[in-house]
Amino acid sequence: MTTIAVIGAGQMGTGIAQTVAQHGMKVLLADLDLAHAEAGKAKVDKALAKLVGRGKIEADTVEAVLGRIEPVADYTPMSEASFIIEAATEREEVKAKIFEKASEVLAEDAIMASNTSSIPITRMANHSPDPKRFIGLHFFNPVPVMGLIEVIPGLATAQDTTDRTTAFAESLGKQVVLSQDEPGFVVNRILLPMINEAIFVLGQSTASIADIDKGCRLGLNHPMGPLELADFVGLDTCFEIIKVLFETTGDSKYRPAPLLVKYVEAGWLGRKAGRGFYDYGGEEPVPTR
Ligand code: CAA
Ligand code: NAD
Repeated sequence: MTTIAVIGAGQMGTGIAQTVAQHGMKVLLADLDLAHAEAGKAKVDKALAKLVGRGKIEADTVEAVLGRIEPVADYTPMSEASFIIEAATEREEVKAKIFEKASEVLAEDAIMASNTSSIPITRMANHSPDPKRFIGLHFFNPVPVMGLIEVIPGLATAQDTTDRTTAFAESLGKQVVLSQDEPGFVVNRILLPMINEAIFVLGQSTASIADIDKGCRLGLNHPMGPLELADFVGLDTCFEIIKVLFETTGDSKYRPAPLLVKYVEAGWLGRKAGRGFYDYGGEEPVPTR
């Protein structure tokens, strides 16, 4: 059975683990420690239970899928993985340490991939033992539902790595868009300025949170408004992405909205924190402004 390692068991890592395990592969799931990795597996259990409740999958399938996800305390077992996928916090220093640690166990022909939303792949490849086998593999949230994966070769990535990564992404039932290693790749280069602009609009009191989101849901036919989506992605992640766009291009059009900075500083990081532009404490999210 193919083994895939996933490092980072937050919303993306758990979504990747679920999707990979649902496609019959074994997953080694790591985070800061075993307790965090186990909590990640518990989240997958909850997501699958919901699908059983809706009659989408059988209870037997859940058992089989969960049986293929093994939370691990350290990276040693990852020497059997054909891909090590990093899906930890969007901060380069965090990812660099993970790559250096994972380099010690990466099998000779295995690929090291990052699910980063924005950090340059070419630069991060320097923390791997072989930049030819380092690549960006950008899933979308929620992973089990979204049909796209961006594949981003860095300058040193070998064509064989890009081909094998594309084949792996397609084996998960996803469609692939190939992006060059440019700031924000394709989708976030377009999405994040929209989210950031929505926060400027809110900061200038042009409209309420509810009306900004309603405007984009009804006026653009987006499934979520930009502030709702920012909360869903995580405001810390949104901030890190727009900061990378700003710093790597030097273009002032990407400067982070001051209100986004304040929300991050307040720890109001969106859905995962229970509060962002909406309060998630009750049955339905309530706009906070
Ligand atoms: N596993 C498998 N299926 C799942 C699932 C899971 N964990 N969670 C939900 N689903 C399925 C549901 O069963 C349902 O299926 P059907 O339509 O067949 O019934 C479907 O997904 C929709 O689920 P819900 O009914 O619970 O929710 P919804 O209709 O309100 O849709 C949503 C939720 C899919 C999140 C939708 O609001 C949406 O598409 N929002 C926008 C998401 C988006 O833009 N994502 C990209 C973010 S940016 C990014 O990812 C890149 C980055 O780097 C920041
Ligand atoms: P998250 O905050 O939900 O989870 C991050 C996880 O990383 C946490 O479980 C945390 O404990 C773990 N972590 C932190 N430091 C670690 C370390 N040293 N070793 C192991 N694990 C560590 O974040 P997320 O939304 O899952 O994002 C993860 C990555 O995926 C980021 O690079 C982000 O940019 C990218 N991404 C996010 C989205 C999104 O919509 N949220 C979409 C696509 C890609």
